[in-house]
Amino acid sequence: MTSQNVLVVGANRGIGYGFVQQLLPQSAQVYATYRSMASPELAALAARSQLQLLPMDITDEAQIVEGLAVIRQQVERLHLVIYCVGFLHEGEIQPEKSLQQIQPERLLRYFQVNSIGAVLLAKHLIPLLKHSERSVLACISAKVGSIADNQSGGWYGYRASKAALNMLMRTAALEYSRKSPKTIVALLHPGTTDTRLSQPFQRGMPPD
Ligand SMILES: NC(=O)c1ccc[n+]([C@@H]2O[C@H](COP(=O)([O-])OP(=O)(O)OC[C@H]3O[C@@H](n4cnc5c(N)ncnc54)[C@H](OP(=O)(O)O)[C@@H]3O)[C@@H](O)[C@H]2O)c1
Repeated sequence: MTSQNVLVVGANRGIGYGFVQQLLPQSAQVYATYRSMASPELAALAARSQLQLLPMDITDEAQIVEGLAVIRQQVERLHLVIYCVGFLHEGEIQPEKSLQQIQPERLLRYFQVNSIGAVLLAKHLIPLLKHSERSVLACISAKVGSIADNQSGGWYGYRASKAALNMLMRTAALEYSRKSPKTIVALLHPGTTDTRLSQPFQRGMPPD
């Protein structure tokens, strides 16, 4: 891994920040993105390592293009990109418990952040991932995005946006297999993880 260049998108906290911590000692160069302001933890890590921080609100395609342009000025290739962006609750947006709580603009927000951001990234990453070595584009999805597994209902927007993420990236994987054959496109379910996203829903969880 020490010759590998890595990009973690959505690295400010939670699972993305965890990946950055794990990957830093094993990689040649690590790039990490934050939405609007780097968290103190991420900034401190960047101050004492080869980590480079880039602003990237994933709902703004221009910021994706600009961030990747900065990377391309410095390295020819990326070996691993992990998309860790996602939200379940954000300000007034809480996961819907019933049809009565469906609001179109909130559904759109789930799709914008949880699904469309990843495929926009896939759209612009090909020049950095297409090379003679193996590369991986991994997106953190969620088991609740499984249609077959949906036995309990609720969380319309989050579930649907993760199902859409799965289909968008499955389709991107097929296109990558032609355009960038050494790239593996993967979707991963992390399991319930102790982060801000899951904090309000941890009642009844075993501590470990
Ligand atoms: N935690 C779990 O139990 C669990 C379970 C299944 C799946 N997941 C998935 O795992 C992934 C990571 O979640 P997490 O648990 O680490 O949550 P988290 O701690 O809340 O982190 C979410 C990350 O997404 C970023 N983000 C949100 N909106 C963004 C936007 N518009 N543009 C750019 N970045 C944005 C946040 O950046 P800022 O800090 O800059 O806002 C933050 O870095 C998500 O896709 C989530 O759906 C988590």
